[in-house]
Amino acid sequence: MAMTANTALVFFLLVAGASILSLPPPSLAVTSPYVRPKPRATLSLLKDDDDDGGRKPEQVHISAVGSDKMRVTWITGGDAPATVEYGTTSGQYPFSATGSTNTYSYVLYHSGNIHDVVIGPLQPNTTYFYRCSNDTSRELSFRTPPASLPFKFVVAGDLGQTGWTESTLRHIGGADYDMLLLPGDLSYADLYQPRWDTYGRLVEPLASARPWMVTQGNHEVEKIPLVEPHPFKAYNTRWRMPFDAGASPSGSNLYYSFDVAGGAVHVIMLGSYTDYAAGSAQHRWLRRDLAGVDRAKAAFVVALVHAPWYNSNEAHQGEGDDMRAAMEELLHGARVDAVFAGHVHAYERFARVYGGKEDPCGAVHVTIGDGGNREGLAEKYGDPQPAESAFREASFGHGRLEVVNATHALWTWHRNDDDEAVVADQTWITSLASNPACNK
Ligand SMILES: *[C@@H]1O[C@H](CO)[C@@H](O)[C@H](O)[C@H]1NC(C)=O
Ligand SMILES: *[C@@H]1O[C@H](CO)[C@@H](O)[C@H](O)[C@H]1NC(C)=O
Ligand SMILES: *[C@@H]1O[C@H](CO)[C@@H](O)[C@H](O)[C@H]1NC(C)=O
Ligand SMILES: [Fe+2]
Repeated sequence: MAMTANTALVFFLLVAGASILSLPPPSLAVTSPYVRPKPRATLSLLKDDDDDGGRKPEQVHISAVGSDKMRVTWITGGDAPATVEYGTTSGQYPFSATGSTNTYSYVLYHSGNIHDVVIGPLQPNTTYFYRCSNDTSRELSFRTPPASLPFKFVVAGDLGQTGWTESTLRHIGGADYDMLLLPGDLSYADLYQPRWDTYGRLVEPLASARPWMVTQGNHEVEKIPLVEPHPFKAYNTRWRMPFDAGASPSGSNLYYSFDVAGGAVHVIMLGSYTDYAAGSAQHRWLRRDLAGVDRAKAAFVVALVHAPWYNSNEAHQGEGDDMRAAMEELLHGARVDAVFAGHVHAYERFARVYGGKEDPCGAVHVTIGDGGNREGLAEKYGDPQPAESAFREASFGHGRLEVVNATHALWTWHRNDDDEAVVADQTWITSLASNPACNK
């Protein structure tokens, strides 16, 4: 797992060089007084602390499994037990659970031991203290999500691991929220596997304290013809999601769904980089999943994809069109309330849309791919702004969705304005399940 200072430096220079060379010319058409920042380089100071012979747990993150369990995932350099000890009082661990350990190899890289333990049943809206691999030197804690509304999500895409990522993470850390949703592009390791480890360390303070529910982006594929023919090797081993839990198990880590707030919100994680065409396993699963959603109970249904289905930015124009053609009708039929996407490194919010046009019973589409990765911002927009595009801006930031009650959810976009978080856009989203005109 260790990366020497020299390799790190060489890699840093390559990456920094590449991102500077590939930068588009700065746009002069500024629509707000806020001067957009330049990309920031990949952080290079995240050292591997190997003094303990590799036994110390690191890169801890958690994800919700069903309504009352949590998966704890972490990595040790050497052999260590796949055990989590936990309880509701600091320093006391009346419960423990054991899980499994996996590793993977990628070209010449060998991962550490990736441990995966599901703990519970847990009480809702409760702080748990825990430690991994019986490590007595470090106690972590998380808060379980509440079993009823209100429920607070943070949504952040295309994070990477730069100074802007740090800024975004700091702002998220300052929020009171229950769960983080990530619409793809996590580490920007881009085949260089130690970057998955530095990313794991960077996000640990947040990802070990609240469930992080993620889906894949193009940067997770990491396929190399002949050499590494299997896609998603690192992603699937390091970021295992609850695809086999809940009411409609999907059988693939690349798409899954889950309920929160006692079933008041149903979240669907779709896979933009695995087959989604009619007749595919994902398409059949989505149909099954939506058929099982009872809108009398699920006040809000939201979906996440990576490549946006609606996008007026010049970056990645049209890349989500095939998936939209394959799946939008299913989501519309189920009156899905909102779709969050990443991929385009900017923020854009659309009105309710369906079939390319405004539709009062369609989903609100939001691109929130502005987490802060090294590729920088996508600053060129198509002109004129389409009528259905309600707000668009190329700035780093994150979003929050607070489902207040069975009819109302407040969406806010928090821009990293010179490292300060500023609410730059907000709108109320009302549940389509409670709209008689959409449920004839
Ligand atoms: C780790 O802790 C658990 C629970 O406290 C205990 O049952 C187990 O024997 C310990 N394992 C090791 C290898 O120390
Ligand atoms: C969660 O717990 C906090 C503090 O105990 C309380 O204020 C809040 O209302 C609870 N939330 C829910 C949804 O039960
Ligand atoms: C739901 O929340 C909205 C926004 O705060 C409020 O206007 C509405 O009255 C609430 N509905 C109920 C049933 O409390
Ligand atoms: Fe992407």
